[in-house]
Amino acid sequence: MTINAIIMAAGQGTRMRSKWPKVMHPLMGKPMLSYPIDTAHALTDEMPVVVVGYGAEQIQYHFKDQARFVLQEKQLGTGHAVQKAENLLNDRVDQVVILPADLPLLTTSTLGHLVEIQTLHSGPVSLLTIESDSPRGFGRIIRDDHGEIQAIIEEAQATPEQLAIKELNVGVYCIATDWLWEALKRIPLSPKGEYYLTDLIAIAVEDRLSIQSHTLDNPEEAIGINTRVHLAEAERVLRKRINRLCMTSGVTIIDPESTYIEANVRIGKDSIIWPNTFLHGDTIVGEDSVVGPNSIVRDSQIGNSCKVLSSVVEYAILEDEVSIGPFSRLRKGAHLAQGTQLGNFGEVKNSYLGPGTKMGHFSYIGDTTIAGEVNVGAGTITCNYDGVKKHSTEIGRGTFIGSDTLLVAPLKLGEGVYTGAGSVVTKDIPDNTLAVGMPARAIRKLKESD
Ligand code: UD1
Ligand code: CA
Repeated sequence: MTINAIIMAAGQGTRMRSKWPKVMHPLMGKPMLSYPIDTAHALTDEMPVVVVGYGAEQIQYHFKDQARFVLQEKQLGTGHAVQKAENLLNDRVDQVVILPADLPLLTTSTLGHLVEIQTLHSGPVSLLTIESDSPRGFGRIIRDDHGEIQAIIEEAQATPEQLAIKELNVGVYCIATDWLWEALKRIPLSPKGEYYLTDLIAIAVEDRLSIQSHTLDNPEEAIGINTRVHLAEAERVLRKRINRLCMTSGVTIIDPESTYIEANVRIGKDSIIWPNTFLHGDTIVGEDSVVGPNSIVRDSQIGNSCKVLSSVVEYAILEDEVSIGPFSRLRKGAHLAQGTQLGNFGEVKNSYLGPGTKMGHFSYIGDTTIAGEVNVGAGTITCNYDGVKKHSTEIGRGTFIGSDTLLVAPLKLGEGVYTGAGSVVTKDIPDNTLAVGMPARAIRKLKESD
C-alpha cells in the first residue's frame, strides 16, 4: 500500500492581513508549512505534494528539497486544489492523506491512526472530526439516525439546526485514490463559486459507500490558523509541547511558562534552562549546561558543562566548560574554546578565544585569534575598523593584556607578551616582551623572574 500526502497551501490567508502567504508565517521558529510537511515525511517515504498559489515562488524556493509542488493559479476551492495534484500522483499511490497547511498542530500519530482506520475499512474515505463548542468556522458533520456520516455542511450554507451541531470537520482526510480522482470530477460548484472537497462525503453516500471517522481526543490538534490571534494560540500550544518533550528527555526547565525553545533546538541531558530564556533556530546545547535566566541564544552550539547567564549568543560556538555572563554578547563567528571565561560586558565577534582564555570585564574582541591561556584585562578593545576596512589581530599563547589596552589592528602580539595598563598598541610586539605607553613602546625583554 503506497500512501502520499497532499497539502493544500494555495490560499492567501487574507485574515492574517499580511503581505506574506499565510503558510510562511513563523511558528516556533519555522514557517507554518514546515509542520504539515514534516508530519507527511514522518508518515511516508514519498515526497508530499503541496498545492501552491498565492506566494507560490517564495514557498517553492523555501521548501524545494522537501516537497513537490503543483500550482493552483485560481483558488477555486479545496476540491479544485486536490484535483490539481492528480497528475503528480494518479495511480502511483493507493491512498492519499489530504490536509490543509494551516493546521500545524496535527501530530503524526493522529495521521497514522487515520491511515490505519482507512486501511481497515471498506469505504473510500476516512476523516478527522472534533467535538467543540466553538465552531471557528469549521464545517459541520451531518449524521443520520444510525450515526452514519451523511455530509459535511459548510458554515455559510448551514441551517440554524445544522449550525448547532458540535461535531466539526477538521479538514483532514485519508482517501482511496481509485475512487478519489473520479469522484472529484463530480463535485458541484458551490453557491460561492468554489469546489468544496467536503462535498465528496455526500458523493460517497450517493455511491452507497461508507465513511469512517476518528474524533480527536485532544481538540488542540485542530487549532487552525486564520488570524494572528490563532497564530499566537498555536504558538502557545507548540511551546508547551516542545518544553514537555525536552523535560521528558532529561532537561530541567525551571519555569516552562517563561521559556521559549524553538522546534529545531536540541538540548542534552541534565542541562538546566532558567526562566526568561529564548533558544532559537538550530541551537544545540550539550549536557550538564546551565542556560539563563534571561538569555537569548540563536543558531549556536553550546557544549557540555557550560554556563550562559543573562547573555546574548548568536551564531557562535562555545566548547565544553565555557562560562559567560552576566551580560556577555557573542556575535557571529565567536568561537570560545574549552574552559574560556567571559564576564560582564564582554563582546566577541568573528574571533577565536583559545582554551582557558579569561576576559572578565567590559572588553571588545573582533576579528581576532587568541591562542590559549590569555588574560584579556578589563576594558581591552581590539580596534579592528579604520573607518574603511576591518583588520585582524593575533594574540599569542599565555599573553597578558593589561587593563584598558587598545589593540590597533592589523596587529600581532607574540607569546608571553605583557601590555601595561592604558597602552595603545599600534605595532607588532615580539614574544616575551613588555610594552607600555601611548603609542606603546617595547621597553624590555621579559626575564623568567617576571
Ligand atoms: C475547510 C473545510 C471545512 C473545515 C476547515 C477546517 C472545505 C470546503 N471546508 O474550510 O469543512 O472545517 O477547512 O480546516 O474544504 N486552499 C487551497 N486552494 C483553494 C482553497 C483553499 O489550496 O482553492 C487551501 C488553503 O490555503 C488552506 C486550506 O486549503 O490551507 C483550507 O482552506 P480554507 O479556505 O482555509 O478552508 P476553510 O474555510 O478553513
Ligand atoms: Ca482554514
